[in-house]
Amino acid sequence: MAPAFRKGEGEGGSRSSLSAPAHGAKASPVSSFLGKHISRILKKNKNFPRLVPRPGPRDHALLAVTSGAVIGMVGMGHSVEGLAGAIGNTPLIRLKRASEITGCDILGKAEFMNPGGSVKDRAGLGIITDAEARGALKPGTPGTIVEGTAGNTGIGITLMANARGYRSVIVVPETQSREKLDFLRMIGADLRLVPAKPFSDPGNYVHYSRRLAEELGAVYANQFDNLANRDVHEATTGPEIWDQTGGKIDAFTCSCGTGGTLAGIARALKARRPETRIVLADPMGSSLYSWVKTGELKPEGSSITEGIGQAARVPGNLVGDRALIDDAVQVTDEEALTQVFDLLVQEGICLGGSAGLNVAAAIKVARQLGPGHRVVTILCDGGARYQSKLFNPEFLRERGLPIPPWLA
Ligand SMILES: Cc1ncc(COP(=O)(O)O)c(C=O)c1O
Repeated sequence: MAPAFRKGEGEGGSRSSLSAPAHGAKASPVSSFLGKHISRILKKNKNFPRLVPRPGPRDHALLAVTSGAVIGMVGMGHSVEGLAGAIGNTPLIRLKRASEITGCDILGKAEFMNPGGSVKDRAGLGIITDAEARGALKPGTPGTIVEGTAGNTGIGITLMANARGYRSVIVVPETQSREKLDFLRMIGADLRLVPAKPFSDPGNYVHYSRRLAEELGAVYANQFDNLANRDVHEATTGPEIWDQTGGKIDAFTCSCGTGGTLAGIARALKARRPETRIVLADPMGSSLYSWVKTGELKPEGSSITEGIGQAARVPGNLVGDRALIDDAVQVTDEEALTQVFDLLVQEGICLGGSAGLNVAAAIKVARQLGPGHRVVTILCDGGARYQSKLFNPEFLRERGLPIPPWLA
């Protein structure tokens, strides 16, 4: 069986055969589509073939979901090359209850199934691959990468750094969930906790991590403004969604931390069908909703969600793509938590707060469009990462938030 990444790819191997299937079978629509797409990307970045998703078992599971019936697993036995090959190609899950109550197809991209457990594995892959392409990091040569993160990007970067032989230094505000911090320590990150400070304060984790990278002479991952973050979603997540829906997608919505996910997917989907509606989903306390609606940054309220929302600025990964965003919706913590708890108890899907918020947003967008439409969103990470908060009755009670009945 051939590996997911053919010999030579990523080491500057032949590019002319990129659209050929990796597994010796006839090219699937997935691989021939991606072959063309990747050829275009290769013109910009010669090391990008590392990111080429290959049709694998997950694709076939997805085909079953898209067609609305289980058609079985075909093409099993395909393997991928290491951690990088296992990132992406996540299932697109039809969410039963959200679809039923809106009369639409609401589909969630299961990013919690990435090896590091979140959508941010893709950013880790894209940022490290880009640093290698620029010569800032060299595989097999010691190097250090520093990042400021709510946690998930630190996990994605640390796992990728481990796989490539680099050291990671990860700066996280101490307010982030204990589970993410424990996990970062567990996987070998050099973890630096800093007090949570507004962006205007020099002690804010983003500024702190930039200074630390300079002091250490290390690579600064800079997920907020490093466009390699957006580009990896344009090259992988967006095309996967297009392929998994057979191009039948009316709207896409998700919340933004760096905005890399939304901007990259928006670019990929709008390039294929400009009418695809792109809706930014925002928690309370963030200014991105008012930025889309009025052009001003006006935060209102607060939120317990982690990794999403921006109060004081629009990150570099998002700001240039304002024209691709058609609308924005605001979602409260109550609405997000209701989705988290309902999806868990009714459909067995265990998600974190930003994923719950995204599903609540997808329901709002579906209601605006009316029955018969298809709305796609991102299931960013899993609920186990927030056990001590979202599934802790005391934490929820103190904040007047809904408590799952089975834990009350
Ligand atoms: C749990 C979670 N959801 C959503 C996001 C937002 O993704 P992006 O930074 O691509 O906007 C993040 C970012 O860190 C996150 O950790």
